[in-house]
Amino acid sequence: MTNKIAVIPGDGTGPEIIREGVKVLKAAEDAVDGFKLDLEEFPYGAEHYLETGELISEDGLDKLSKKDAIYLGALGDPEVPTGVLEQGILLKIRFYFDQYINLRPVKLYPNVTSPIAGKGPEDVNFYVIRENTEDFYAALGGKAKGRTHEKLELSRSLYNVKFDLDIDVDGDEIAYQLGVISRKGAERAIRFAFEMAEDKGLKRMTSVDKANVLSHSYGLWREVFEEVAEGYPEIETEFSFVDAVTMWFVKSPEWFETIVTPNMFGDIITDLGAMIQGGLGLAPGGNINPEGVSMFEPIHGSAPKHAGKNKVNPLATILAGQMMLEQLGEQEPADRIEEAVIQLLKEGEVRTYDLGGDATTSEVGDAVAEKVREG
Ligand code: IPM
Ligand code: MN
Repeated sequence: MTNKIAVIPGDGTGPEIIREGVKVLKAAEDAVDGFKLDLEEFPYGAEHYLETGELISEDGLDKLSKKDAIYLGALGDPEVPTGVLEQGILLKIRFYFDQYINLRPVKLYPNVTSPIAGKGPEDVNFYVIRENTEDFYAALGGKAKGRTHEKLELSRSLYNVKFDLDIDVDGDEIAYQLGVISRKGAERAIRFAFEMAEDKGLKRMTSVDKANVLSHSYGLWREVFEEVAEGYPEIETEFSFVDAVTMWFVKSPEWFETIVTPNMFGDIITDLGAMIQGGLGLAPGGNINPEGVSMFEPIHGSAPKHAGKNKVNPLATILAGQMMLEQLGEQEPADRIEEAVIQLLKEGEVRTYDLGGDATTSEVGDAVAEKVREG
């Protein structure tokens, strides 16, 4: 079957890394019989926005909805105020397609140095499952001075919720931001995590939250976690506060197998996860709707200062492509790509500056593509 993929190169270094990702996908298409791709590029990002004033149109979303998956480079540009492209395109797509899982493997590959002394591939190998639609990402908030009346609304596939706020500030200005966790929203993310752990034969599940302070929203999260966990008696469970988990990531990464966490903390701890696996240049992620259109991207940003220099590491993007194929059920080309990356890293000759080498972005892409072809 042909896999229809929307490709969004995006901003900064996005186009150059996605070019290498596409190169590798095409090599896999050549190498694996019966594996077919139909790629269509979409222009969303800073340039398109500055030219047309459009972030992503209803028509654009409709076109994306006809695809099997979305392959994204990176978004964000210094010419556009911070947050506009990220919220208007990236988060828009995540929420519109209800990509409620953000799956981020933290895997140290052979012959890559972790900044944590003495830790090797056998020590750093776990999954973070980040809930991807709720929490503080609900974007509910505002500013108030004196007496203010605010109506806030959150619309998700699972529910609509309205807040009618009567704010009376006696003093100066305040700003506030509401985080929302729903029973169903937490449940589906936590269940996905347990199902994935069971499929992969993993034996430990850590819930990361801050229920000691934000006890309403993360209290509900914990309640749901305990309920779901009952269905998986063979998986050992534990809770860890987010501050403590950052310490444990550095001290004993080998402890972790599967982590499930609300959106905001998932965002934060996966940048730390990327570092202990050798850097942001190696960390892919998938925004997954198991029943819908999913989107795959490197977890790093657009790195505008490096744009156009053919310098940055394309491996995170290449590995995001591998995750995309896995999600599409194309296991053979997916495995070929991961094997090729592992081979390249083991040889250690063609690597970008972040891994101590002097190869260019396109040289790394070429080398992976060649290995994918050779198989
Ligand atoms: C990520 C990014 C995004 C997020 C930003 C760009 C909106 O940091 O994918 O981790 O916060 O989710
Ligand atoms: Mn992030």
